[in-house]
Amino acid sequence: MFIENFKVESPNVKYTETEIESVYSYETTELVHQKNTNDTYQWVVKPKTVKYDFKTQTNVPKLGVMLVGWGGNNGSTLTGGVIANREGISWATKDNIQQANYFGSLTQASAIRVGSFQGEEIYAPFKSLLPMVNPEDIVWGGWDISDMNLADAMGRARVFDIDLQKQLRPYMESMVPLPGIYDPDFIAANQGDRANNIIKGTKKEQLQQVIKDIKEFKEANKVDKVVVLWTANTERYSNIVVGLNDTMENLLASVDKNESEISPSTLFALACVLENVPFINGSPQNTFVPGLIDLAIKRNSLIGGDDFKSGQTKMKSVLVDFLVGAGIKPTSIVSYNHLGNNDGMNLSAPQTFRSKEISKSNVVDDMVNSNAILYGPGEHPDHVVVIKYVPYVGDSKRAMDEYTSEIFMGGKNTIVMHNTCEDSLLAAPIILDLVLLAELSTRIQFKSEQEDKFHTFHPVATILSYLTKAPLVPPGTPVVNALSKQRAMLENILRACVGLAPENNMILEYK
Ligand code: NAI
Repeated sequence: MFIENFKVESPNVKYTETEIESVYSYETTELVHQKNTNDTYQWVVKPKTVKYDFKTQTNVPKLGVMLVGWGGNNGSTLTGGVIANREGISWATKDNIQQANYFGSLTQASAIRVGSFQGEEIYAPFKSLLPMVNPEDIVWGGWDISDMNLADAMGRARVFDIDLQKQLRPYMESMVPLPGIYDPDFIAANQGDRANNIIKGTKKEQLQQVIKDIKEFKEANKVDKVVVLWTANTERYSNIVVGLNDTMENLLASVDKNESEISPSTLFALACVLENVPFINGSPQNTFVPGLIDLAIKRNSLIGGDDFKSGQTKMKSVLVDFLVGAGIKPTSIVSYNHLGNNDGMNLSAPQTFRSKEISKSNVVDDMVNSNAILYGPGEHPDHVVVIKYVPYVGDSKRAMDEYTSEIFMGGKNTIVMHNTCEDSLLAAPIILDLVLLAELSTRIQFKSEQEDKFHTFHPVATILSYLTKAPLVPPGTPVVNALSKQRAMLENILRACVGLAPENNMILEYK
């Protein structure tokens, strides 16, 4: 059975006019490597309960979202998709009359289990856990190095059916991206042709312009909060150089000195951190150079990334988790992709491809490292990623994967997958989730029993990791890639905010 919403009644939960307050018992463990009397060592695991207080502001702000790369396939698809939902648009396809929906969005189209009622499992929308911004109330804006309006950009993307495009055009024609920061050194040379909408000047002037753009957008649209998300082209990696971008001071000084190694995405992120605006990086490059992370932490300004986890990598972080979790040993993972959209064209240059290769490569590390019965020290499956640009297939990306594993008694098992789907239709709902969850996370405060003051989450937003291929984590924090763990983490933290225990799937009532 499905219920639309619910309220929690518990001595540990209080709903005030502006907040939900919850007292939460966090069940965890403490590990000790203990010396025995005979000089041997033994691991001891001690269960431990830590009390936490959570408070979540329930007043949902009017939200503005500014996309860097607004006129790209993802930007135009998301904007059109939300408008189609808002306006209740339906359109004729060769199969049927299609209604707008939010399929693929964790917040808008997935469910959580809230309990059992008379022998039946009861589910509710994920978004009913805590008050979240309604996507249809978001004001959209952003930047692009191409000045094409969003209606034409939607046509250029060739993602939506033509009947839908015709209905969306009137809403999108007047949406024109602000000029972006173009630096041909960071993206493929083949992007030069569309770069006709550019912020001129030094790095410092470009940074100041972006700050001004954010302030003016906020003012003009009377929004309470802005979230900025990079869905522009994949850049090459920035070199991390001592004295250049390794610390907050050096990064800021390098901008003043107009150092060429400061990338456009780092400038956008810097503008956001300086303005205390959450910034999310949906591409694989290392926008968050150490100096920027340093500054975000000092200013307690949310940053999250990297690289949307939409198709092939999502499958990988499910399949390898399943295999290793089943005691099966993946030994070779080979992933081919071909795609024909502008992203594919940009990735056909070796430096930008390298950024993608890196972000796609590390996704199995935590799962491999979790099982020393299968893998010896330093042992790792062979893992190869290939991406080719094939213009004809457009946004309809093909991903082919071969997983070879060792099974019982030296047997081998090979699984082959072929995945075809419009890339931007996978990415758009993920972008929506990223901005909604980033906004929500800035309204949550908590403290443990050892702390006197409430604080927000760490500014490096690991809470968003379900949605990204290479989750950015604070220095010294473990990276979790396994999809089910990432989803459980997110859901369980939101449950804690309303005083619900983590979903433990034990269903003891019926055992
Ligand atoms: P796209 O190439 O259609 O869009 C990118 C847009 O960014 C273009 O309109 C371009 O003109 C603009 N742009 C480039 N540099 C800019 C700058 N410095 N400032 C402002 N605008 C700039 O690409 P698409 O398909 O929308 O993908 C966007 C990004 O998302 C890519 O980096 C891609 O790798 C990443 N991504 C996409 C996924 C998907 O499933 N679609 C999954 C994971 C990541």
